[in-house]
Order: sequence, then structure tokens, then C-alpha cells
Amino acid sequence: MRLLILGGTWYLGRAVGELALSAGWSVTTFNRGTSAPDLVGVEAVRGDRERVEDLRRLAERGPWDAVVDTIGYVPSQVFNAATELGPVTGHYVFLSSVNVYTGWPDQPLDDASALFGCPPDADATFGADLGYAGQYGALKAGCERAVLSAVGTERSTILRPGVILGPREYVGRLTWWLGRSARGGQLLAPGPRLRPIQPVDVRDVAQFALHCASSRLAGAFNVTAPMGQPTFADLVEGCIAVTGADTEPVWVDPDWLVSQGVQQWTELPLWRTNQGVWNVDSSRAIAAGLQCRPLRETIADTWAWMNGGGTAITGEGEAGRAADHGLPAEREAELLLEWQQSGQAGGNAGGLP
Ligand SMILES: NC(=O)c1ccc[n+]([C@@H]2O[C@H](COP(=O)([O-])OP(=O)(O)OC[C@H]3O[C@@H](n4cnc5c(N)ncnc54)[C@H](OP(=O)(O)O)[C@@H]3O)[C@@H](O)[C@H]2O)c1
Repeated sequence: MRLLILGGTWYLGRAVGELALSAGWSVTTFNRGTSAPDLVGVEAVRGDRERVEDLRRLAERGPWDAVVDTIGYVPSQVFNAATELGPVTGHYVFLSSVNVYTGWPDQPLDDASALFGCPPDADATFGADLGYAGQYGALKAGCERAVLSAVGTERSTILRPGVILGPREYVGRLTWWLGRSARGGQLLAPGPRLRPIQPVDVRDVAQFALHCASSRLAGAFNVTAPMGQPTFADLVEGCIAVTGADTEPVWVDPDWLVSQGVQQWTELPLWRTNQGVWNVDSSRAIAAGLQCRPLRETIADTWAWMNGGGTAITGEGEAGRAADHGLPAEREAELLLEWQQSGQAGGNAGGLP
């Protein structure tokens, strides 16, 4: 297989490249060379996807059996890339997001749920009135349409992951929970303890993308862990277990946390009370070959990576892009004290909503 990865040095694109190389594929990567070093063994092409002349120069290096596009955020740019690369590639795999659904994170979703209405030629200003997540989702929906209109439905796969975790995660989600768990003491854990969550391992997304590329699997697929497993307890208690720290989770009622103004998704990463956030049906992807490893494996490998046992990317971009997620220690201590004084501790935070 000859594979082209748009991106290919960072998080998901890097995982796609590593897996493809280990399978013996010939891999070309396309990026500006600013975020991280190239993978050893790839043909690295420098360029900016915002520049049509760079995409044309890239197309001259083809043909490829497939392209995996991990860096599409603006429909007009994705349209240009798919238009230039379509004639020199057999199949186009586009990394989208569950944010394309108007119902996320409030409603249960399957791959046929309603999408944001964004045209395939929209520029980066489209949807500015929708807020950060809404605009991101609308633009991604436009990107999907750009791929479909440039290369057609038969030669393309649209992958819509939910939250992606694993080694080299730079957003600060699992990495924050691991760091917090290692610090010890009483840890504020957002209930309900047994609420199911659906993060997917970056390597499992990468493997499925390669499967779609090599088998030319057409269609759009949600890419999340199966509904119902694992739970928030698996996340928090798994992090505590792998760090080996003397840390005690204190499960706190989610409504009380909301009343205290704790920021969902950011201050307590992955915690969100919306009923649809972990209610995404990915059964079609699973039937088509998506395999999700146990969350404890993702946790263990991410902890190993954080401690230098994994393969780190050493580049300017890695430190520069870490997000400011997590609850400051003093605020956590204040909240735990207030929770204990509220008389609700030991209440219903362990069950389902
Ligand atoms: N993280 C999640 O939880 C999550 C969830 C759902 C969906 N997704 C989707 O997954 C995909 C992968 O995300 P990611 O975080 O792994 O990667 P990313 O940050 O989107 O991409 C970084 C890579 O793209 C290259 N790049 C960036 N701008 C470029 C440009 N203008 N021209 C050429 N190359 C460029 C970077 O290299 P240079 O800087 O060297 O150019 C680097 O290799 C995205 O499409 C995202 O929407 C992510």
C-alpha cells in the first residue's frame, strides 16, 4: 500500500503513520514541518494545505492507494485538497468529529443523525455565531461535504471520533487525571461513579482509518468506544491504580458541582452532564472492524508515555500546545471541604442519574 497522510507528525496522524510503517506500507506525510519531527521511514513533503500550489506540488508525488486526511478544519481548504489529490489517490479517508451533529452533546446519536448545514466551499469565518464547539462542528460538517463533492461517496470514508485519548495526548484530559491521581490525597471525582463514557484510543482510531483505507470502505462512521462501557469509575480509579499513589476518590454529586460553577469538560476533564455526550452509537464502525482496547490499557500506556517509557515527540509544538485543563489544587480542596460540610457527602453520587 502507498499511503499519504495529511499531517502525520502529531497525535492521530503520527499514530496512523507508525501503524502504516509497521505494516510495511510506503508512507508519505505532508505538513509544514513546524509541530514535531518527521517519523523515521516516511517520505516527508513540506507544504501548507492552505496553499493550492503546495497541494499541486504534493499531487505530483502521487499516485497513492489512499490518503488519510487528519488536518481538515476549513471546508474550502479540504475541497482544494480533495480536488487536487482525488485524481492521484484511490480512496480518501477524512477525520471528522461527532461535533458535526447538531444534537451533540444533548441527544443520543447514530451515524444518520442531523448534521450542521455548512456548505463545502465555506471559509473559516462560517458559523462564527455558533460558539467555539458549534463553529468547529459546523465547519467539520462542511469539510465532510467538501470531500464528498470532490471525490464522491464511493471513494471516501468519513470518520467521526468522539474524544480521543492515548499516548501523546496534548489536550490535557487523561494526562490531567493521571497527573492529579499521582499527586495523592483526596481527589474530587464527579459522579455518578458508574456513568458510562466512550473515549477511544488514538491507536484504535488510527487502525480503523488504515482498515478503511486498505479495504476502501465507503460511508460515514461514528468512532467511539461502545456505549455502556467503560465508566467514569474505570477512568478515575484506573488512573489511581496505575500511578500507585495514595489517592482516595471522593465522588461528588454532579448537580452540586454545577451549582458551584465548576466548568464542565475543562476544569474536570471529560466530565459533562449533558445526556448525549456519551450516548453515541458506533455499532456500524464496530461491525465494520473498529476494535477498541480496554480503557485500562490506554491509561497504562499514557502513564508510561508521560514517564518517558513511551515514544515522546520532542519538538517545539508539544509543550506549546498543551491546553490549560484541570482544577487547581486549592480550588479542589475548597470544593471538597464545602462538599463535606454540605451534609450531602455519601449521597447518591455512586449511582446512575
Ligand atoms: N483530539 C480529539 O479528541 C479529537 C476528537 C475528534 C476528532 N478529532 C480530529 O482528529 C484529527 C486529528 O487531530 P490531531 O489533534 O491529531 O492533529 P492536528 O492538530 O489537527 O494536526 C496536526 C498535524 O497537522 C499538521 N498541520 C497543521 N496545519 C497544517 C497546514 N496548514 N498545512 C499542513 N500541515 C498542517 C501539523 O504539522 P505542522 O505543524 O508541522 O504543519 C501536524 O502534523 C483532527 O481532524 C480533529 O478534528 C480529534
